[in-house]
Amino acid sequence: MANQEDKFKKVISHAKEYGYVFQSSEIYDGLSAVYDYAQNGAELKNNIKQYWWKAMVQLHDNIVGIDSAIFMHPTVWKASGHVDAFNDPLIDNKDSKKRYRADVLIEDYCAKLENKIDKEINKAAKRFGDAFNKEEFVTTNARVLGYQEKIDTILSRMGKSLENEDLADVKSLIEELDIVCPVSGSKNWTDVKQFNLMFGTKLGASADSAMDLYLRPETAQGIFVNFLNVQKTGRMKIPFGIAQIGKAFRNEIVARQFIFRQREFEQMEMQFFVRPGTQKEWYEAWKQNRIKWHLSLGMGEDNYRFHDHDKLAHYADAAADIEFKFPFGFKELEGIHSRTDFDLSSHEKHSGKKLQYFDHEINESYVPYVVETSIGLDRMFLAVFSNSLVEEELENGSTRTVLKLPAVLAPTKAAILPLVKKDGLPDVAKEIIEDLKWDFKVIYDEKDAVGRRYRRQDANGTPFCITVDHQTLEDKTVTIRHRDTMEQKRVAIADLKSIINAEVSMKEWLKKI
Ligand code: GAP
Repeated sequence: MANQEDKFKKVISHAKEYGYVFQSSEIYDGLSAVYDYAQNGAELKNNIKQYWWKAMVQLHDNIVGIDSAIFMHPTVWKASGHVDAFNDPLIDNKDSKKRYRADVLIEDYCAKLENKIDKEINKAAKRFGDAFNKEEFVTTNARVLGYQEKIDTILSRMGKSLENEDLADVKSLIEELDIVCPVSGSKNWTDVKQFNLMFGTKLGASADSAMDLYLRPETAQGIFVNFLNVQKTGRMKIPFGIAQIGKAFRNEIVARQFIFRQREFEQMEMQFFVRPGTQKEWYEAWKQNRIKWHLSLGMGEDNYRFHDHDKLAHYADAAADIEFKFPFGFKELEGIHSRTDFDLSSHEKHSGKKLQYFDHEINESYVPYVVETSIGLDRMFLAVFSNSLVEEELENGSTRTVLKLPAVLAPTKAAILPLVKKDGLPDVAKEIIEDLKWDFKVIYDEKDAVGRRYRRQDANGTPFCITVDHQTLEDKTVTIRHRDTMEQKRVAIADLKSIINAEVSMKEWLKKI
């Protein structure tokens, strides 16, 4: 655990030191759970957005993208159920006066049981060596099965109680599990209460006529209210999807874990409209499609798992998370939800406008069903960034810090380094930049010895360092050094574009999906 915490602290300080993420309003001591993306962070974030947009919109001829406003008519949130049901169950500890999400306290308890399972697996793997069969072990070992059964029982009871609004039982569960406040160590809990997460604001200058608005807590509703506009103007035929990337706002009570849980964040969502009765098939298909997108980035199959929901949101008939192994354990990265016709039907009712589709194939009008994929851009950023940060022991006994970002997402693709600041080498380096900058984000760096510059670029996540030396003046070749292998090769300047392109082009990466 201490190890995990150390790793996470390193992630946060590295993100600041290398210009990826800053605390918002830092000179005023910051604003809790609000962050700014710095010069490198903004590039990484943009690259993640593009990687998603290309995969979802550009590569699917039946998905289009929109960009709807953050402010929406207040009735939208009544219709969507957010006014009545977008709540977190909160509990206070009377001694520490600290407030917690009751479900998170219970989930953290289960995460501890999961850690115990992991320990058993690691112990057995060491004991049995190459003969170890993990699959067999976890399905037969009595201790592992016991922990797993306990986790399943707890989560299933919590899911049912939350669904039935039985908050007294959620409290009983916390008491029965002997969960203590992490700050005071006491079990002196208040009752569990619901708390709405939407931020309210006002539209209009005069106090009497101002209209109460909400900052949108999800981007999805901007898609639902535009469903018919897009379908008609785009002549879309079911099944089809509408995607968008945009900001969402939630008044998170337990906002910690850096950019994992923020009050202002970005979502990349896609609503896929299907014929009623086919939603199950599409739900499974999108689960597979989305996990393939994640795996295409090469961040390790073992770092992902599906988690099927016991507690379904007010709009869903099936839901699963893609969880990622963050430095603080497996947590939700993306949700895939079968949202039924809940949203469109409810908007029909509240707006009085028909939101139906005439299906020529079956000669019938209906309110389409919806399968949604919803990923937090900031969580994706954290997944990529934390997974990429490694400390490597080198053969000479020293260590290097390297940010092994998937090259396709790296903010800077290459650094061009003149070996020395004289003899015309900087001029050649700048000529190379002039040529490459039309295709890639590249930078110039002449400060310090070349070894230090390599390390700086390693820590910054730059996949290539290109060094201009005296030989360059004679034969128009340079050395190109690869961040991950540290291998150096002499290549012609004329070949640089195609060498870099082969490793960073989105096309090559997306073909793996
Ligand atoms: N439209 C469905 C929806 O909003 P959700 O599970 O509440 O579903 C979707 O959110 C995704 O948004 C999550 O999987 C997560 O990646 C991201 N997300 C949710 N709350 C967040 C927060 N407070 N900070 C950062 N990301 C968040």
